[in-house]
Amino acid sequence: MYHILKNPEQIAYQVSQLLTQALSTHPDLHLGLATGSTMKPVYTELIKQIHHQSLDCSRLTTFNLDEYIGLAPEHPQSYHYFMKEQLFVPLNIQTEQVHIPCGVATDTDQEAAAYSQEIEQAGGIDIQLLGIGTNGHIGFNEPGTPFDSLTHVVQLSDNTRIDNSRFFESFDEMPTHAITMGLEDIMRAKHIILVVTGAHKAQVALDLYESEVTPQMPASILKNHSNVQVFLDEAAAKLIIEKYGHELLAANS
Ligand code: F6R
Repeated sequence: MYHILKNPEQIAYQVSQLLTQALSTHPDLHLGLATGSTMKPVYTELIKQIHHQSLDCSRLTTFNLDEYIGLAPEHPQSYHYFMKEQLFVPLNIQTEQVHIPCGVATDTDQEAAAYSQEIEQAGGIDIQLLGIGTNGHIGFNEPGTPFDSLTHVVQLSDNTRIDNSRFFESFDEMPTHAITMGLEDIMRAKHIILVVTGAHKAQVALDLYESEVTPQMPASILKNHSNVQVFLDEAAAKLIIEKYGHELLAANS
């Protein structure tokens, strides 16, 4: 389950290899996507490899994990905007191929419920990319989220608002709510890839490694999935390595 690589670039390379292999054998791949700083090097490398291999992305379908409530797709801090800039425009992925919850829907609860159905009706997600919050969230499933949750509206925790306010001009501009795929939606993906990079993720990486499966550590639900890969760079794995050593990690990989 755990793979420790030197730095974010090496992880980006490996993850992109996995994705391009999948895409070359299944051009109609259903790919679950995440946003955030962790994903930037992954998308940069993925674009490079897809272009290098001249892979066809016209039959790809994408499902993003989440979107802030109140931010229109044109808002520079919206996840729609992030995805367009980081992946969709460079790969010429068309709007019809893309699914992201709408943060400015009139009825956000209805929007959320419809999103889970859309994923299911499409036949589910083949590969889901995930990052992790410093409080253990995946998507925006904050600690305490029920394991059987489908896509829903969430009030962001103070921890998440503080972490993510770095992207906004001021803390007050940071949204208070989001729509997120639920833990159940995530767990239905056939293959899950969690990427954890940077020294600021070392504590949550250790917490996740040591955690029992509990809603207090949302990412711990992944321990119940039969096809998960967790990629950590050396900075993020530092505390695990200090405490448990490489051998134990090798036994888990
Ligand atoms: C983003 C998402 C979040 C992030 C997490 C880590 O779509 O669902 O769970 O993956 O907050 O964010 P970064 O990568 O910015 O540290």
